[in-house]
Amino acid sequence: MNDPVLSLIRPEILALTPYSSARKEASGGKVWLDANENPQTPHAGAPRLNRYPEPQPAEVVARLASLYGVTPDRVLVTRGSDEGIDLLLRAFCRAGQDSIVTTPPTYGMYAVAAGIQGARVITVPLVREKDFALDADAILRAVTPETKLVFLCSPNNPTGQLLDRDAVLRIVTTLATRAVVVVDEAYAEFSTEPSLVQELGAHANLVVLRTLSKAFGLAGARVGVTLASLQLIGVLQKIIAPYPIPAPVVRAALEALSPTAIAAARQSALELVGERRRLTAALAKLPHVRKIWPSDANFLLTEVTDSARVMSIARAAGLVIRDRSKDVPNTVRITIGTRAENDFVLETLARV
Ligand SMILES: Cc1ncc(COP(=O)(O)O)c(C=O)c1O
Repeated sequence: MNDPVLSLIRPEILALTPYSSARKEASGGKVWLDANENPQTPHAGAPRLNRYPEPQPAEVVARLASLYGVTPDRVLVTRGSDEGIDLLLRAFCRAGQDSIVTTPPTYGMYAVAAGIQGARVITVPLVREKDFALDADAILRAVTPETKLVFLCSPNNPTGQLLDRDAVLRIVTTLATRAVVVVDEAYAEFSTEPSLVQELGAHANLVVLRTLSKAFGLAGARVGVTLASLQLIGVLQKIIAPYPIPAPVVRAALEALSPTAIAAARQSALELVGERRRLTAALAKLPHVRKIWPSDANFLLTEVTDSARVMSIARAAGLVIRDRSKDVPNTVRITIGTRAENDFVLETLARV
């Protein structure tokens, strides 16, 4: 095997004969009797859902490819980007042997997916004194021969900042044949930095995760996107469930990916960025707010004098925000809402 990235994949996954679903094997035809479906829809509900959906809905894949500026063979549509994280762990990490690197404080699912797969988690904290910057040298020192995946989240959840692009690319380049670097860009639409998707062609060990859950307002539909080399996408297609994207979700994704809806999503992200600015300025004036980290995402990590008290006042008012104190002491994470919702945040937190 010449491809150094494919040689990092678990041998049993490379050797696996994937399930071949009826919809993958069939082409054309007018009478469909190959998938043990019911030819009728006995219940009254519309739309008809008696047929299995396309394993990878071609039109959704095509629109996502055009949205991100890649060829369709670099796109895998998943049940949220959480499924992309899980598939990567399962493809690369041998239970009890391999490891991943994460950079806390960061998104919790990398470590959970590793735990499910039996992979060790090596943590290299972001540098708090430098507004949670990446320590590229420490990451490179921490990688062992058993490290298969390095998860970098940019903009990072829960701290909000973009990671330094040059530092990320240095890690990708240095690890070219040793590990895959997964850059999770769930919040990219709220920042002005260009996506690392543009670098995919130059780096076979780079994977970018995107999602329609945030700027596209489709969290309820569960549509995530894994972007990678076509060889790696081919391996992930072997292990994803046969029909991961339900027909109603395909319809919702197609609607969200029409030219008008894409323009609306961009407009909505712009508005949220405006509200982020307003909320940051107003929160900074509250006496119990100690620090608000600059955010490139649709949330603010806010350090307060007493997070337990902030949470209890918020709870009593019916305001649901997230206590992040276990990641960063005395912090709460506030998602940017509508103008009225943000006013409610300000009113409520002014009572603390
Ligand atoms: C950084 C990050 N990645 C991935 C996800 C999961 O997104 P999805 O809804 O696409 O599964 C989240 C959700 O909050 C997130 O914060």
